[in-house]
Amino acid sequence: MTATSQKNKGLRWILLAIVLGLIVISIGLAVFHRKDWNVPAANKNLKNPLLPTEANLAAAREIYGNKCSDCHGEKGKGDGSEAMMYDPLPSDLTDAARMNKVTDGEIFFQISEGRKPMPSYKKKLTEEQRWQLVLLVRSFANGAASAPAAAPENGKPEPPRKAD
Ligand code: HEC
Repeated sequence: MTATSQKNKGLRWILLAIVLGLIVISIGLAVFHRKDWNVPAANKNLKNPLLPTEANLAAAREIYGNKCSDCHGEKGKGDGSEAMMYDPLPSDLTDAARMNKVTDGEIFFQISEGRKPMPSYKKKLTEEQRWQLVLLVRSFANGAASAPAAAPENGKPEPPRKAD
């Protein structure tokens, strides 16, 4: 074997190793990387037509107890009785850092469309019921039942207004 063909063979192995490495990396990313929901802008900017009244929250709690708590847990921590059966795990809805980044419209979209293993509730719940759930989901991360307005464009919360 000549020196050049030895060298070519070495190069070929290196290339093969690189290709295999890339395949492994992309499979890893596909499996472990949680994709963005890519909510369309029009849906993202929808405002909740409902106010966080006790009646709306009570209605939401009842639906949540029937349809959501097995996965997301009674208080939204993602620790429902069936949570461990799923991959990815049901989201922790009390994670304020994450939940404050999503608008009401996005939460409404997520509940409506679902994403495996979470089912879609577009046909199972009315629009009003889904907006009631948005109020409840908001209350998990905020502690209180206050529903902040849709996040402003820059993602930063608005400074509190001074009382005059
Ligand atoms: C079968 C289990 C299951 C049920 C039932 C379920 N979810 Fe989920 N939910 C999930 C999983 C898993 C995810 C994460 C999906 C992902 O990131 O791809 C999720 C994500 C979400 C998110 C997005 C949070 C985020 O930013 O990651 C919201 C909001 C949500 N669920 C609310 C609800 C509500 C409200 C109900 C009841 C109407 C419900 N879910 C029922 C499993 C479930």
